[in-house]
Amino acid sequence: DWTMTNFIDESIQSIRERVGDKRVLVAISGGVDSSVAAALVHRAIGHQLTAMFVDHGLLRKGESDSVMQSLRDKLGIDVVRVDAKARFLGRLEGVTDPERKRKIIGEEFIRVFEEESERLGPFDYLVQGTLYTDIIESGTHTAATIKSHHNVGGLPKDIRFQIIEPLRDLFKDEVRRLGEALGLAPEIVWRQPFPGPGLAIRIIGEVTEEKLHLVRESDAILREEIAKAGLEREIWQYFTVLTGNRTVGVMGDERTYAYTLAVRAVHSQEGMTADFARIPWDVLAAISTRIVNEVPGINRVVYDITSKPPATIEWE
Ligand code: XMP
Repeated sequence: DWTMTNFIDESIQSIRERVGDKRVLVAISGGVDSSVAAALVHRAIGHQLTAMFVDHGLLRKGESDSVMQSLRDKLGIDVVRVDAKARFLGRLEGVTDPERKRKIIGEEFIRVFEEESERLGPFDYLVQGTLYTDIIESGTHTAATIKSHHNVGGLPKDIRFQIIEPLRDLFKDEVRRLGEALGLAPEIVWRQPFPGPGLAIRIIGEVTEEKLHLVRESDAILREEIAKAGLEREIWQYFTVLTGNRTVGVMGDERTYAYTLAVRAVHSQEGMTADFARIPWDVLAAISTRIVNEVPGINRVVYDITSKPPATIEWE
């Protein structure tokens, strides 16, 4: 008979038996799966677990700090935050092709992971937040041919760790319930899907500090307004995209020539297909007004009304 308490107790026992007194590493991305896996293994073995959080500088506003607060300060997990922002931005300089951006970020992630695990180790085991659906879908997932997906599961092929996958029998909704039971913050438990390459693929063209600032600030406003409208858990994903396009506008008596920002919000089951969300006009109006007023550099906001297919959810 499956209950959450039974699941936690049995997992703890089997992790302890398997690991003994060895050291364990987990790479956390800020997402639900890796955070819940880390929290569960931490319950079992405490300080034998080290969590590596590679901050590539491409997360949303406030996200990196909220991961540290929830996992390190509140749960007491030994989290090592690796500030790799400069490395990632450096490697992305001058790069405009979406697939090249994805490849570079995936490769750089592996490099940082290898260096840091060497520095912090040695470790015998590596925790991965693989879910049941990841296992049954792998191999049949055609999206990989359209975009090269990168996530924290995308680790080196010749990995020398033994793998622990404590969530491999669970579905997403069970993982969220488990996360709540383990005391993870709601913003992590209910986090919307977020791509491994982060905001880099929500900036069309070259990724720069300035553009990251524009997409990050506008995204924060969008999230606030969606929450205010009570739509947070109704929409599968909602985010902003900085188009590479600039147009003429007028503010006060001044001519502006600034970026067009796109708002993307979709309903979806598993991300394979999607329909654009019918957000009320008034909510869209508030979003647009606030972004143009509060984020200098953006003078026009458009709403993406395309479904998947033929479009994809992310723009790159
Ligand atoms: P697309 O844009 O292909 O996205 O319609 C489908 C879903 O996948 C997410 N996505 C990613 N997730 N690594 C991830 O872990 C990636 O590289 C990646 N690219 C897209 C996207 O946010 C949507 O939920």
